[in-house]
Amino acid sequence: MSVPTLEDLGDLAGKRVLLRADFNVPLRDGVITDDLRIRAALPTIVWLQEAGATVTACSHLGRPKGEPDPRYSMAPVRERLAELAPGVELLENLRFNPGETANDPAFVAELIAGQDAYVLDAFGAAHRSHASVVGPPQFLPSAAGRLLQREVEVLMPLRSDPARPFVVVLGGSKVSDKLGVIEALGAVADTMLIGGGMCFTFLAAAGHGVGDSLLEADEVATCERLLSSGMRIVVPSDIVALDAAGTIGDPDAGGEVVSVGADVPDGFRGLDIGPGTAAEFADVIAGAGTVFWNGPMGVFEDPRFAAGTRAVAEALADARGFTVVGGGDSAAAVAEFGLAAEMDHISTGGGASLELLEQGDLPGLDALRNAPNAT
Ligand code: 3PG
Repeated sequence: MSVPTLEDLGDLAGKRVLLRADFNVPLRDGVITDDLRIRAALPTIVWLQEAGATVTACSHLGRPKGEPDPRYSMAPVRERLAELAPGVELLENLRFNPGETANDPAFVAELIAGQDAYVLDAFGAAHRSHASVVGPPQFLPSAAGRLLQREVEVLMPLRSDPARPFVVVLGGSKVSDKLGVIEALGAVADTMLIGGGMCFTFLAAAGHGVGDSLLEADEVATCERLLSSGMRIVVPSDIVALDAAGTIGDPDAGGEVVSVGADVPDGFRGLDIGPGTAAEFADVIAGAGTVFWNGPMGVFEDPRFAAGTRAVAEALADARGFTVVGGGDSAAAVAEFGLAAEMDHISTGGGASLELLEQGDLPGLDALRNAPNAT
């Protein structure tokens, strides 16, 4: 697993370093709503600057379709970066060029022109075989930045050697996105707690009615197999649901909100775990040696369905064990509840952290291991 680190780049005085960061920050009306990903790159940037290097940073932002799109301009990021790390040049959104996602050698050549070394610190994009991630290490002395290094150091031991009991809390809407990580961590985890929209496919597999809740009918058989596999998978025993008259995200539109058992009545959509389940999950988390959490327990953006996610976030904040929050929505929830400082590690990569846990490797790490300076 070992990849070259900053110390393996040799003398950087007067050298130019291309830094692939993940500055894919959330924006609302062109304003950055959370600059965590920019701040997370600072230790690497400062280290490089103190070593005498001139840093050119590059990143994607959103998913533009291979051509310039003003909605995804790097301008707000450039402004914030200039405040936090003066003297760093930032290239325009990599995905404005179709060569980025296509991993086009011509775009790689453009990126590395004039550069002496390459640093990958974009953990959140290290699962993408894109030009800026896997291209430069073929040609330049390369290294993992501090953020990437830390993510790997925290996440990899969860696959094999976590402090026990190891509790995995999974939520989010799609069970199909999480089956890989359930299979991979199932053999290691002592308990898996399942909430979020994905729980309804498990509840259906356990023979419960799910009303009009999210259901991935194609995955019911897989969930049945997992439930009878011997893994300790805990599904909700109660649910908070909204009737068809209500609108998700708009409490003023009315509709009836009910707290029911594990069977969601017809005409209702389950949108959060219930209070009994939240208390049960919190108890399990309190006794854990390690907790990994990915995916909200409900539609927490709507205050009527935020209690389950909040209860899990608070349980992690109070836990005596080592707490790891996968990126994406669960990281956003922890930030919104003001609990980020209470977590031991908040991953900057949602998809990347799941893929690293599933596969034990990422294309970006593999590329670094094959760089000219790697031993
Ligand atoms: C993320 O936000 O998870 C990363 O920046 C990766 O973005 P992508 O899913 O658009 O590749």
